[in-house]
Amino acid sequence: MTWGRLSVARVLLLGLLAPLAAADGDAKSKVKADPPPAGSGDGLAYESIQKVDIYTDNATAPAPQSPPVEGWWESKICQDEYCIYTNRRMFNGRGLVAVTKFEEFQKLERIDDHLNRGENKYFEDPVPFVETEVLNKGLGITANKTIRRGKVLMSWSPVLIVHKALFNQVPKKADRTRLLETAISFLPPATRAKFDKQRVTRAGPRSIEQILLAHPYEVDMGFNNYRQADENNHSKHYVNYPEAAVLQHDCRPNVATHIDQSFALRATVARRVQPGEELTVAYVDPLLPRSERVAWVKRHRGGDGCPCSTCNPPGGEKGEAAKKADERLTEIMAMRAELRNHDSTKVDIQMIERFVKLYEEERLHVKLADAYELAALNANYLGDDRRAKKYADLAVQAGIVEGGTQSNDVIAMRIMASDVKGHYSYRYTLKRRGQ
Ligand SMILES: *[C@@H]1O[C@H](CO)[C@@H](O)[C@H](O)[C@H]1NC(C)=O
Ligand SMILES: *[C@@H]1O[C@H](CO)[C@@H](O)[C@H](O)[C@H]1NC(C)=O
Ligand SMILES: *[C@@H]1O[C@H](CO)[C@@H](O)[C@H](O)[C@H]1NC(C)=O
Repeated sequence: MTWGRLSVARVLLLGLLAPLAAADGDAKSKVKADPPPAGSGDGLAYESIQKVDIYTDNATAPAPQSPPVEGWWESKICQDEYCIYTNRRMFNGRGLVAVTKFEEFQKLERIDDHLNRGENKYFEDPVPFVETEVLNKGLGITANKTIRRGKVLMSWSPVLIVHKALFNQVPKKADRTRLLETAISFLPPATRAKFDKQRVTRAGPRSIEQILLAHPYEVDMGFNNYRQADENNHSKHYVNYPEAAVLQHDCRPNVATHIDQSFALRATVARRVQPGEELTVAYVDPLLPRSERVAWVKRHRGGDGCPCSTCNPPGGEKGEAAKKADERLTEIMAMRAELRNHDSTKVDIQMIERFVKLYEEERLHVKLADAYELAALNANYLGDDRRAKKYADLAVQAGIVEGGTQSNDVIAMRIMASDVKGHYSYRYTLKRRGQ
């Protein structure tokens, strides 16, 4: 799924997770010594805890039984390799449930102190927006005052983590639904109520699976070594943030999101927003061709097609505006390939400037960091240190919006901006050409 590219958080937990490799042996012997109970008639293995009806879409239904322990609880409620793990103490009682493999649960358990550092709050009180019914989309949020670029709106820890391979390896939807519904039922009541708010859509209630697919935030707890024969042997998980789900989709959004090292989702305003403007994020990569974006939105975000301006430009899908936007995007992608190629002979300053201009014209405000970084490097390759410095500074600004002050790109661009001529990229192309 190509659109996964956008929301995959490259969560750099390598340092934290390194000890896990050594602990692998323990994990295996533990699984052997203490296997999940055999499956029951309906295919879902569980203990007697399941007396109450917890498979409900009804948030006002009676709360289910709580897990017997605060802290981590291995429920033994499983479907194949995937089991429910809960921790009602995480995030100051907000709680966290995971549906994942045993070895992935062990990673979570080991990094929980780290995850607990995640911030859970809105950054302004009162919040600078109101919940509103947005035409053709459902519940969304709209700014009720001017919000400057770079303003952080909110940061929230996840409440649900689900291994992505569950959707391949447990083929029956009913089995997955039972597992996911059970997981959610173990959240503390206040958190569960927040989660359940996401089920409501104009078209009727939405399943947990549909909620995850409509907001496909993803964390990877692995070492990026999953490119192997078994496509299900990876550590990628969907993560759900109920408070952020009110941010509706737009392919040209004004809010950037990233997942920080504590797995908290941070939403930052990417361009100045005026009172009355809807606040939106992109749930599908804004750089994908329009037809793919429209198809994704139709499939995962309500049946009425794509309501945003880029899907439905003035003049319609075959109109002049749509044609222009498609041409811009094609040109951007072609230039990007050249600018990413250190050995390209086609790059000149004119191309670099046009590239940045097209991003701005195409309103790719949540993707500018990458554009400025490429512009900075390529200008420097050509020995234009003045432009290189300008673009490196812009890359730092955009990088803070898109990935936070501590992101690798921001750090790299700060270093470059501080000494452009001392950077490896300075005059790289010229030297290669023997100039
Ligand atoms: C939700 O559950 C409550 C309590 O069990 C019940 O009174 C109500 O009718 C249910 N609502 C729906 C829409 O099923
Ligand atoms: C904006 O809306 C929030 C509620 O969502 C409210 O508390 C706040 O006072 C409003 N701000 C302005 C400037 O109207
Ligand atoms: C999954 O990958 C790891 C290494 O990344 C390997 O040690 C393990 O055997 C693999 N498991 C399966 C079931 O292929």
